[in-house]
Amino acid sequence: MARQVHRAAIFHLRGDPGHDRGAAHYVDDGALVVENGHVIELAPWSDRFAGEQVTHHRNALIVPGFVDCHVHYPQIDMIASPGGQLLDWLKDYTFPSEARFADPKVAAEAAPFFLEQLLRNGTTTALVFATVHKHSAEALFEAALARNMRIAAGKVLMDRNCPEDLRDTAETGHADSADLIRRYHGKGRLTYAITPRFAASSTERQLALAAQLLAENPGVLLQTHLSENGAEIDLVRATYPDCVDYLEVYEKFGLATDRSVFAHGIHLSSEEWRRMGVRGSAVAFCPTSNLFLGSGLFNLAAADREHVRVGLATDVGAGTSLSQLASMNGAYKVAQLQKQTLDAFRLFYLATLGGARALGMDDRIGNFAPGKEADFVVLDLAATPLLARRVAHAKSAADRLFALAMLGDDRAVAHTYVMGERAYSRR
Ligand code: GUN
Ligand code: ZN
Repeated sequence: MARQVHRAAIFHLRGDPGHDRGAAHYVDDGALVVENGHVIELAPWSDRFAGEQVTHHRNALIVPGFVDCHVHYPQIDMIASPGGQLLDWLKDYTFPSEARFADPKVAAEAAPFFLEQLLRNGTTTALVFATVHKHSAEALFEAALARNMRIAAGKVLMDRNCPEDLRDTAETGHADSADLIRRYHGKGRLTYAITPRFAASSTERQLALAAQLLAENPGVLLQTHLSENGAEIDLVRATYPDCVDYLEVYEKFGLATDRSVFAHGIHLSSEEWRRMGVRGSAVAFCPTSNLFLGSGLFNLAAADREHVRVGLATDVGAGTSLSQLASMNGAYKVAQLQKQTLDAFRLFYLATLGGARALGMDDRIGNFAPGKEADFVVLDLAATPLLARRVAHAKSAADRLFALAMLGDDRAVAHTYVMGERAYSRR
């Protein structure tokens, strides 16, 4: 692809602003230079770009494509289903919805819809649960390949404590996962993620085989759930009575690694947080889901204390929006309820570079360092009358970003670019 210059206000993070205030980089009138799908440079606008192919995005802010560290694509049909906490919600809504994916046509129709919704929300990378059905992962990988998106995903492993029609076996789950790794991992921009649903829904044999696959396949990720809800934790304790806590189940089988991404981690003890730091495992912080299901408040300060990588996530269908701006809004409120402060820079970090680091993809995506893949979002600072009015009164770049995070959603996404190519435009 030919060299292109995008002119607008531009913002990205060069590091974690929670540790380094200098990490935030804002250019009021900037030029993002892109060629062959990669970032060449980010510079203040100057006349030296005037003769080039320039797209001028007025009253707009360019940020790196959002990274969603935990989302279930087969749950888009039951998002916003009322009543009940996690285990009842799974039984009443989630499992029946996922059972429909036994039909390959259902998966083949849902996967492209889901990815189009990600792009509409400015999300260019996600770590995604499919269902237990092998073809549900195939459908998502094929749809991601067609859009050149950097997607990590896996077929769910689940051989107990679940409905009969959503059950695999340790052996079929292992064989299906191994075949998907062989066919899709590293193809285009795809990453395979070994996906035991959670400790209680897998037998010891299934977890052992999952760990074997993880050890045998460098670069493959592991995604699962951890310490989300009281009844869930009780079920895990009853299922693995010899383990002192939830994290120990994953540790015992070799699943708590620096390639593991655990969703939630709300009720981890300080001792479990300490071990998360030692293992180098990452956490997906899913605020809209945690509030919707009443699961609890994620303790970002505890993660920071142990230097645990954290990425923001929607966790749809328990989450109430695919917008990472909406997740930032939720994250801010979750922090407020714990007397923790989350500023705009940190919120955008968690949804971009922080997410990329949680997925081990920060050498490719997450900011506009030269050489990175050119996945970016053009946010419209006048997307709604209220946002336009609030932004007009903003006192600083941080204030503008904060207003976007609190008031924005898919309406604020004017364009989404994938590897330098326009993949979505509003209307
Ligand atoms: N724990 C096990 N499965 C799920 C799921 O689908 N969603 C959420 N939020 N938690 C889970
Ligand atoms: Zn989840």
